[in-house]
Amino acid sequence: MLAGRRILLVIGGGIAAYKSLDLIRRLTEQGAEVVPVLTGAAEEFVTALSVSALAGHRVYRDLFDLTDESEMGHIRLTRSTDLAVVAPATANLMARMSAGMATDLASTLLLATNRPILVAPAMNVEMWRNAATQRNVETLRADGVVVVGPEEGDMACGEFGPGRMAEPESILAAITAVLRDGPLKGRRILVTSGPTHEPIDPVRYLANRSSGLQGTAIANALAGFGAEVEFVTGPASAPMPSGCRIVQVTTAEEMMSAVMAALPVDAAVMAAAVADWRPDRVSESKISKNPSVASDAGSSRGQGARDGLAFGCVENPDILATLSNRTRSRPRIIVGFAAETEDIVERAKAKRRRKGCDWIVANDVSPETGVMGGPDNQVHLVTESAVETWPRQSKTEVALALADRLAKALSAPG
Ligand code: CTP
Repeated sequence: MLAGRRILLVIGGGIAAYKSLDLIRRLTEQGAEVVPVLTGAAEEFVTALSVSALAGHRVYRDLFDLTDESEMGHIRLTRSTDLAVVAPATANLMARMSAGMATDLASTLLLATNRPILVAPAMNVEMWRNAATQRNVETLRADGVVVVGPEEGDMACGEFGPGRMAEPESILAAITAVLRDGPLKGRRILVTSGPTHEPIDPVRYLANRSSGLQGTAIANALAGFGAEVEFVTGPASAPMPSGCRIVQVTTAEEMMSAVMAALPVDAAVMAAAVADWRPDRVSESKISKNPSVASDAGSSRGQGARDGLAFGCVENPDILATLSNRTRSRPRIIVGFAAETEDIVERAKAKRRRKGCDWIVANDVSPETGVMGGPDNQVHLVTESAVETWPRQSKTEVALALADRLAKALSAPG
């Protein structure tokens, strides 16, 4: 997929540097040529020898590597590559990039390049959350740098939270997306993701436990296969996908409008856990449990305040069914999800027929499976003619397998 592409890979100094070795392996497997650059700190974690052996290319380490007349200058080095990737991108390196500093070979190349830049941050949770880091990341994004991850999880330092470098397969997907290559090139695909929040009053809402991880992984995989992805997401905790057009919504009704506005698309993957119901009225003021406050508030503003938390529910529009039953600009392939806790396959088959979609990805979301919010998933792909049971694997792997199936289905004569 990346044959003939040259990628400048800057490896920063962090424990995640070992994952860049896997990234190099995957990039070369895809036919890319990797030009590796190690920062001084990176050499504390990986050796130039292992990097050059895997890349099959010499490693650049400091500015003096490039001063020899027989070698390339830093400008030429950046011009001869298609993309610069920084993995792991440390807080320090991102701070220097956002300030436009050129204090070593890596930062000089990143300042000199006129090619796209993709960074995969990796650092301690608090370093990531620090206002300065967040400011720097925003600056980089505003400058057009693509930021992949970080992911949430156990960290080498013993803490838990966001800061772990994105997995090499996600970085690879983002690289392919930036280079717009792959079997879904020229296809537009819609992905819905995350939960929806249905307001009760200005501070409370009905919601569900969806993290949005599977939807983000699918969007990353599809973009990695070269698709132009419209990502419509409710308020999810998962990181946003890279290289996609992102539309953030809150309620099911807003998600419905965003989905319809995204048409036409070649395919739609409806991974969102849309709330089936919403409160039949939304109190304009915060509902108080103190009756006197409640009746005051109730007399002046929304009526919900008067009755405590009592409210009825109305059904939300079914976005998947509405899309599937369209006669005009119906996507060629519509994939629904079925989150079940029993009779998974039978319910998924019935759901596929009831909603009118083409495929259903069904999974068991009982608490003991750890699927809801967890990194892995075990799914069944239900189509009109067959049911396939896929092995338990990471959500990224599920996403890549689904992207592969969509690529094949869309390339078949329709
Ligand atoms: N879905 C949707 N709009 C809704 C509800 C669900 O588009 N209002 C989509 C989801 O994105 C998912 C699929 O429908 O792709 C399955 O959702 P699910 O909640 O499992 O189905 P329900 O229709 O709620 O069926 P049941 O409650 O009987 O399981």
